Amino acid sequence: MQEKTSIQGSWASRWIFILAATGSAVGLGNIWKFPYITGENGGGAFVLVYLVCILLVGIPIMMTEVFIGRRARKNPVHALEDVAEESETTRAWGLIGMMGMLSGVLIFSFYSVVAGWVLHYIKAMATGELAGATSEQAGAAFNALLADPMALLGWHTLFTIMTIIVVARGVNKGLETATRIMMPALFVLLLVLFGYAMTTSGFSAGWHFMFDFDFSKITWDSVLVALGHSFFTLSLGMGTIMAYGSYMPKKASIGSTVLAIGALDTLVALVAGLCIFPIIFANGMDPAAGPGLMFISLPVAFGQMPGGQFFGFLFFVLVGVAAWTSAISLMEPTVAYLVERFKMGRWKASILLGSAVWALGIACLGSFSFMSDVTMFGKTTFDFLDYITANIMMPLGGILTAIFAGWFVKSKYAKEELSISDAFYSFWRFAIRFIAPIAIAIVFYLNL
Ligand code: PHE
Ligand code: NA
Repeated sequence: MQEKTSIQGSWASRWIFILAATGSAVGLGNIWKFPYITGENGGGAFVLVYLVCILLVGIPIMMTEVFIGRRARKNPVHALEDVAEESETTRAWGLIGMMGMLSGVLIFSFYSVVAGWVLHYIKAMATGELAGATSEQAGAAFNALLADPMALLGWHTLFTIMTIIVVARGVNKGLETATRIMMPALFVLLLVLFGYAMTTSGFSAGWHFMFDFDFSKITWDSVLVALGHSFFTLSLGMGTIMAYGSYMPKKASIGSTVLAIGALDTLVALVAGLCIFPIIFANGMDPAAGPGLMFISLPVAFGQMPGGQFFGFLFFVLVGVAAWTSAISLMEPTVAYLVERFKMGRWKASILLGSAVWALGIACLGSFSFMSDVTMFGKTTFDFLDYITANIMMPLGGILTAIFAGWFVKSKYAKEELSISDAFYSFWRFAIRFIAPIAIAIVFYLNL
């Protein structure tokens, strides 16, 4: 194929691509979900399984998504179809992209609700309403927020609008500008908070909790959670990285670029854990508190520390920024598809998609109040969507992408596009043909 670019535009440089993809990857998954699932799954052992999943499954699949997107320079559905056609196999592989778009819609609907909680806590920290609160008071305040659908609706709506505006402005004016401003801010905030956590008395306890590997705590269920999370955290198996890859400059090597993104995402998750657990331990609280870890325990902890109000505010701003850049990337594949398939303008496509995810989000925020009785497989809408996207749909998208790229795409195209050393290529090919599909299949099987 000759040199071409996406009609949506392309990133100004390799570094912008790295930062944009990192912006997608680094989100609530790193700062909210990773610490609480690590807490629920016993700490160190879980962290180790997670790191193995990132290295052996996540990185090879991310490389694959970038190469398919960049080769075709189109939205995920059309990119998969084009690459399939070029390798003389069926265009039905494009269905992976369709499923991916559906995953994106479902993820957005609960993601935006959690991001709404974050916005609420930015305000709560700024006004000092939780200063000096006990755990009971902070728990009651969080539950009161969950039980107030109108408040949640307001925040969810605000967050959805913030996201629509950036996506509608397009790859260069919207996504790239947001990346240039928000990513440096995110790293600075994280470093400041990390420095702060290091000064707390719980730092060593937090460190040991995360890095003392105790294998007896590993269960198949926690392996499923670790595998699912490695997809969620790297934004894989749903088209986002394929879409971002389709805007990647041709000269850049996919191998080192993807390694940088994977390393940055992992670093942020680990540092976020090292910010949160020390603060939890310094205050004698429970690391296995679940989804409320960030919203109950942390405000209490911050409320009792010198300067805690200010650092608490910074912390929630950090989480808000991270969630925003990820939410943008959740919409991008479908917006690109609507624009390319139906010749829609980006504003129209973004508003259309935004309205759909906004409406679905109402069922998610209602899961804590007026829809708490509506359950699927014993889970509320919110929990159900979180569960099926991370633990089923994204790994399924991943396994199909791996099988497609490993067994159906002509290897000379993969080699040409990845342009990595022979040893790295052999690792990629082995991982994508065998390790990733088999690992995902085993974990699926054992959990059914
Ligand atoms: N990777 C993001 C996070 O860790 C979530 C996400 C998933 C974003 C899929 C885009 C696509 O929060
Ligand atoms: Na992430």
